Amino acid sequence: MNENALNNRQLGIEQDASLLEFNTLRFDYKAEYLAVVSSLAHLKALLQWANDANQTVTMIGGGSNLLICADVSGLVIINRLSGIQVDVQDEANVMMTVAAGENWHHVVEYAVSHHWYGIENLALIPGTMGAAPVQNIGAYGVEIKDVLRRVQVIHKHTGEQSWIDGKDCGFAYRDSHFKGKWKDTLFITAVELSLKINAELLLSYGGLVAPLDDQSTLLSVFERVCEVRRQKLPDPSFLANAGSFFKNPLISKAHSQTLKARFPELVSFALEENVKLAAGWLIDQAGWKGKRHLGVGVYDKQALVLVNYSEHKADALLALEALIKQSVYERYGVLLEREPVQLPLSSHSESLS
Ligand code: EPU
Repeated sequence: MNENALNNRQLGIEQDASLLEFNTLRFDYKAEYLAVVSSLAHLKALLQWANDANQTVTMIGGGSNLLICADVSGLVIINRLSGIQVDVQDEANVMMTVAAGENWHHVVEYAVSHHWYGIENLALIPGTMGAAPVQNIGAYGVEIKDVLRRVQVIHKHTGEQSWIDGKDCGFAYRDSHFKGKWKDTLFITAVELSLKINAELLLSYGGLVAPLDDQSTLLSVFERVCEVRRQKLPDPSFLANAGSFFKNPLISKAHSQTLKARFPELVSFALEENVKLAAGWLIDQAGWKGKRHLGVGVYDKQALVLVNYSEHKADALLALEALIKQSVYERYGVLLEREPVQLPLSSHSESLS
């Protein structure tokens, strides 16, 4: 064995490894190099290896918001950094510092079982702690940005670690600087969450609880969210998918008025400047719910989710995506935008969920 191969083995780097197990759409592409990391020292050594070998680096967490469309060159790191630290600050506030590789739903369960409020509405969202800020995960009226105090990052080229304040992360609807200007330089290693020991429950989101239900508790809201999600969203361990495949589009008030005149049932939410439409409704009403195209399809209980029944590669899904986008555009004049991140990107590295 030559020296390089020996070095790669010591670092746990596998060559030409399948990514099948590391993306919930279950597409079978390869990583040129792949390593599963569970300690910071190992992560630093891998970044050093990639810099020395002039290899690009891509980090994957749960792989649940990811659309892999081709083999990935360079080093793919699977983030399995683990650990939860708790600091009860006073009678009202708790700080939880969570390593990036922790499973997100496990973090929610941990908080709810300790009676800490703030993330119960985000139960059962697939993926890891480190991926959550990248797309600012959200559900039932809550987004991770609402409870996130700081993010610990590692600088890809120097291996240095630092903390970034939540308010500086550029959080927006399913978006942050981690998806944008920082994507080539920073990977998330831990997140600090600010939770409450006694707080109001957020029940405003339609369909979560009956409007006048004052019996709700932290546990009942958590359970209700799990129940609603299990009814509407496919569990990726049984049916391959990447959650919502499209973002809910924003359109102008004028456009929404025209659409309302033609489609009185249009599901829309007025914001300050514009109007947000339910992409699931648009796709559903355009007749796509439950439809199949080759080995992929539109989920029959939630039209926003595309599922993979039997494909090994992404081509059929990309074709279905194009057909849906075209049909929604022709019917409503609305251009849908994809939610999951595509891999590989045309250039350089990317930090992904
Ligand atoms: N709708 C339909 N048909 C469908 C799906 C939805 O008519 O097939 C209508 C529903 O009746 C409802 C509206 O669309 O009036 C909104 O549907 P829902 O409450 O299910 O939420 P969503 O807008 O489809 C968003 C998030 C989900 C999150 C839910 C709940 C995005 C892209 N998706 O979906 O997030 O769980 O709200 O808060 O914002 C994810 O990001 O992967 C994800 C699942």
